[in-house]
Amino acid sequence: MNEHILVCVAWPYAKTSTHVGQVAGAYLPADTFARYHRMAGNKVLMVSGSDEHGTPILVESERLGINPRDFVANYHRQICEVWDQLGMSWDLYTETGTANHYRITQDFFLTLYDKGYIFKDSMQSAYCPTDRRFLPDRYVEGTCPLCGYTGARGDQCDNCGHTLDPVDLIDAKCRLCGSKDSKLEMRMTEHFFLDLPKLQEPLQSWLSENKGHWRPNTLAFAMNWLKEGLRARAITRDLDWGVPIPLDGYEDKRIYVWFDAVIGYFSASVEWAEKQGTPEAWKNWWIPGLSDTEVRSYYFIGKDNIPFHTIIWPAMLLGYGNRVLPYDVPANEFMTMSGAKASSSRGNVIWTKDVLDKYGADMLRYYLSATAPEGRDSDFTFDEMIRRNNDELVATYGNVVHRTLTFLQSKFGGVLPQPQPLREADREILAELERGFELVGKNISQCHFKEGLNTAMNVARAANRYLDEQAPWKQIKVDREAAGTTIYVMLQVISGLHLLFCPYLPFSSQKLHGYLGLEGDASAQPWQAIEIPAGTTLPKPAPLFPKIEEPVAAEK
Ligand code: MF3
Ligand code: ZN
Repeated sequence: MNEHILVCVAWPYAKTSTHVGQVAGAYLPADTFARYHRMAGNKVLMVSGSDEHGTPILVESERLGINPRDFVANYHRQICEVWDQLGMSWDLYTETGTANHYRITQDFFLTLYDKGYIFKDSMQSAYCPTDRRFLPDRYVEGTCPLCGYTGARGDQCDNCGHTLDPVDLIDAKCRLCGSKDSKLEMRMTEHFFLDLPKLQEPLQSWLSENKGHWRPNTLAFAMNWLKEGLRARAITRDLDWGVPIPLDGYEDKRIYVWFDAVIGYFSASVEWAEKQGTPEAWKNWWIPGLSDTEVRSYYFIGKDNIPFHTIIWPAMLLGYGNRVLPYDVPANEFMTMSGAKASSSRGNVIWTKDVLDKYGADMLRYYLSATAPEGRDSDFTFDEMIRRNNDELVATYGNVVHRTLTFLQSKFGGVLPQPQPLREADREILAELERGFELVGKNISQCHFKEGLNTAMNVARAANRYLDEQAPWKQIKVDREAAGTTIYVMLQVISGLHLLFCPYLPFSSQKLHGYLGLEGDASAQPWQAIEIPAGTTLPKPAPLFPKIEEPVAAEK
């Protein structure tokens, strides 16, 4: 323990609020992971922020006639509100619009340029003579050369998912004025390129070493990219929105959004350290071999972001030099919404805020962790969320807690009785709890979140069985001390359970923490059962989770 764990989470575009697919794909696993590692005694730094640059944001703000800075500020605020409501335990959630981020991005750019990993070159780019400007990425629309979809955009086709270049489009037209194919010109323009071929070999050796813990799909994807041979990539655009190029003569160009966004992991760590009043502290997570304990960085992302996190960002770090490379990139598959692909442009999304307002955080956290798209796609439905709430959170975990605490109130006046010497069954359930800490911890640290949650729920199931078998409501009629021992043991078990569930369900764990007569923050407890001593007086409890009784069809 006492390792330095860097938890990096994909930066959402400040272009919409967040939807539940994003939460399931990246944010919730990251938060569960960070919370567990803090409890396990490791030094965690969890950072992310809003991704505020790029043509989609600029195009959208221009369409609405809003200054892009105001446009992103509005969504950044909305996203931050969702994080608070969801219980994201960020060390820092920032944005790419800060002066710190600009400075560090420019330093990265210049360092890579000086070391010969960035070069200048001319390229053909779409140009609109009517608007008298170049049209990068989404400024061009047309027909996809691969699938024939007519609404394809210059950077990608939303229908077949392929990444495109504006020059690939058939019948390309300018999105600003709608000027037709005939009028769009190709003109030469100067840009900067990241020399990925130069970094192919170091990337290859890094990806070939010690990657047994990576998810097979992620590793296969990265290896395939390498096998096809890397090509240099343009990392600047003809735009006036983004981080300026730190060289004279390029005032009308900006650094490409993806180049600056990935640097955010690093710039946010520096910003965090400064805000803490320990400006050097970021080094513990970023400079290899600095601290005597291990440093590991994890990148929680959706599968569409794999190339940027397994190839491009590591290449940038290798080129920059003396920086910790990703230890793992636990990329998730997608979560569909009632069977269809989530897409905010097509209106098929479920906004996180709406679910949180109606059901609260832990119910959503439970459902999304239990059905996480780990290893394969999964599907979100309200019916299933409510069923799992009622059958698992309420009927299993909530039930065993409530039966125990109310029995203690009604038969022992809320004062935990002194136990008799422990019986075989008592020792077994306590051993099961002990194993729970080991197994849940192992699953979470290996990024098997679904299995970790299921393991915690199995301990709750075992506790229900133990309680039914001991039946203290019968014991008490013949042997009050036997009933007292059962309740004493059950209190220890639910005390353990509230910590086992804490990385997943921080709000209900905190509530139960109070019902157990414990003070302070449940999330700040170490990863082990806390003993509730005999003689403790416990407050009156309320049910941990509400049962949802509603006509489910109304939800859709
Ligand atoms: N904004 C990107 C997306 O939503 C993700 C950026 S992740 C980072 O797909 F690497 F750039 F930080
Ligand atoms: Zn035009």
